[in-house]
Amino acid sequence: MKNKIVAGNWKMNKTFPEAEELLVAIAEGLDDMTLETDVIICPPFPYLEMAADISEESNFTVGAQNVSYMDKGAYTGEVSAAMLKSAGADTCIVGHSERRAYFKETDEELAKKVNLLLANDIVPIFCVGEQKSERENGETFNVIRRQITQGLFHLKKEEIAQVIIAYEPVWAIGTGLTATPQQAQEVHAFIRQLIEEKYGTETAYNMYILYGGSCNPGNALELFSCTDVDGGLIGGASLKAEDFIAIINAAETCMKND
Ligand code: 13P
Repeated sequence: MKNKIVAGNWKMNKTFPEAEELLVAIAEGLDDMTLETDVIICPPFPYLEMAADISEESNFTVGAQNVSYMDKGAYTGEVSAAMLKSAGADTCIVGHSERRAYFKETDEELAKKVNLLLANDIVPIFCVGEQKSERENGETFNVIRRQITQGLFHLKKEEIAQVIIAYEPVWAIGTGLTATPQQAQEVHAFIRQLIEEKYGTETAYNMYILYGGSCNPGNALELFSCTDVDGGLIGGASLKAEDFIAIINAAETCMKND
């Protein structure tokens, strides 16, 4: 039985002291738990090093929320994969729908980001998901297929084996409108099937596919219990230690029930 992964995406929230307070509270909460779940916290860039320091005494690892698609050099304001690694990040979110929408990130750029992360020994959490109108027009599977094919299918088998995929329906992000377990399972199974067709059964089985979008302590257990849901990428509910710990507890319960 695979373990679960619960990752918190803080997005652009918290000042430095608030971030420290939250990290300490989460670390304290995790102290009381014997964890099988892999917990990842993705704070904003300026807090990566602090998070990495606190993580050394705790049960979580640290991820970034974005990375440059350039390697290094004169790209003012950009942050490279090598910098992230040296600041303590072991994972990095790529292609979040907010970056695709507001910062116009393209599939081609995302593929470059994935390459740079892997080259720097950082696990990409590659996000895919359809918009509301795309779901309503019956285009969900086409959108997901395009995002996965263009962003990941240039990778070799041993490379894609390092990647985590997050299915985040855009209409469910920050809206309180969670996908039903059936809707999540349907898309997760589709993603696994795509991976299987290209890379084979073992790679597909071992691939972690997380659900994200208004996941909270009240719905996490039901979502995580779906066959192809290997955990969650949590936004709003990762900003409160109590809620985040409750979601991690749901992942733990899920594994015990299995
Ligand atoms: P919410 O949990 O706030 O809906 O955000 C989900 C998300 O975008 C995580 O990356």
